[in-house]
Amino acid sequence: MNWKHALKGMTPYKPGRSIEEVIRLYGLKEVVKLASNENPYGCSPAVKEFIETDAIQYEIYPDGYASALRSKLAAKHDVSEDTLLFGNGSDEIIMVISRALLGKGTNTIMATTTFPQYAHNAKIEGAEIRQIPLRDGQHDLEGFVRAIDDETSVIWVCNPNNPTGNLLPSDTLQAFLERVPEHILVVLDEAYFEYITADAHTDSVTWLEKFPNIIILRTFSKAYGLASFRVGYAIAQPEIIANLNKVRNPFNNNSIGLAVAEKALADQAFIHQCRQVNHEQRDRFKQYATEKKLHMFDSETNFVLLAVPGDADLAAEQLLQQGFIIRSGNALGTPGYVRVTIGTEQQNSDFFAALDTLLVVEGSAK
Ligand SMILES: Cc1ncc(COP(=O)(O)O)c(C=O)c1O
Repeated sequence: MNWKHALKGMTPYKPGRSIEEVIRLYGLKEVVKLASNENPYGCSPAVKEFIETDAIQYEIYPDGYASALRSKLAAKHDVSEDTLLFGNGSDEIIMVISRALLGKGTNTIMATTTFPQYAHNAKIEGAEIRQIPLRDGQHDLEGFVRAIDDETSVIWVCNPNNPTGNLLPSDTLQAFLERVPEHILVVLDEAYFEYITADAHTDSVTWLEKFPNIIILRTFSKAYGLASFRVGYAIAQPEIIANLNKVRNPFNNNSIGLAVAEKALADQAFIHQCRQVNHEQRDRFKQYATEKKLHMFDSETNFVLLAVPGDADLAAEQLLQQGFIIRSGNALGTPGYVRVTIGTEQQNSDFFAALDTLLVVEGSAK
């Protein structure tokens, strides 16, 4: 077959091990998944209540316009309904943006290391990928500006960044946006927005008028605890949304996903509580890293990138054997580190105890 040339040498996304698989492999009683930045507190109880009502007509196609969720989100963000686009997770929106704007003869700018789907999709579309190394875990926006030329079509800013967790200060980001030519789409991927607790952080939705070339990505997969339902959304000027709508599949969100997202959105007390407790637990990670003299990037998310002694793959494997599924930095482009989702208080205590055993072994080997 005549596969696209770009597919040669690419590999499909490799999900981490599932809880069931690890239980089976290592004969463990309990396994904690701290690998994909899901919400350890689940989701709003209103979602579970709704699902039990069985209120969805399964034989009917979903609302391809996501009308109900659209109107609630428009009200929440104080934007008009035509500024919103829905995706089967923000993953799908990344694909739609790439399909609509990238191709041979264009280039796209992103950090390295950052969320891998930007480069993955750009590669499939045949665009030139310009990856600008992080500086101290932060996007090097000066480097981004230097990389811009007439063929630049899309710039990706992951904020806070995955996998470092770093947040760009709002004034730095704003100064950058002022320097980007208006014909370039700047994607602000804010999958972890709800976890930010930094003072003086500006909600980028308030920049839509000033910077008409931005598109903001948010998701129900993280703080809202709905990763399995695949609902993400974008906010941008109506003209951008109208063009992206030409590319997306007509019924890309299913009825249950749309309905439960609406329920979860209404329960902001749950989000507030998750942000608060995540903040407290993030501080425990900071304290642990300081005590153990392990480097950790400043995180404004529900995960941390933490240095481990020795090889990160080996550390991840040893932690797996103790019942913790985490991500080795080797696969994420950050060797020497592991990315760990911040769990509940108990999960984190158990995780620290497991990591302690590795540190003891490493220390005594020296
Ligand atoms: C930065 C970032 N963007 C986008 C996504 C995709 O999220 P989803 O497709 O579940 O909305 C993730 C998931 O890990 C992420 O970390």
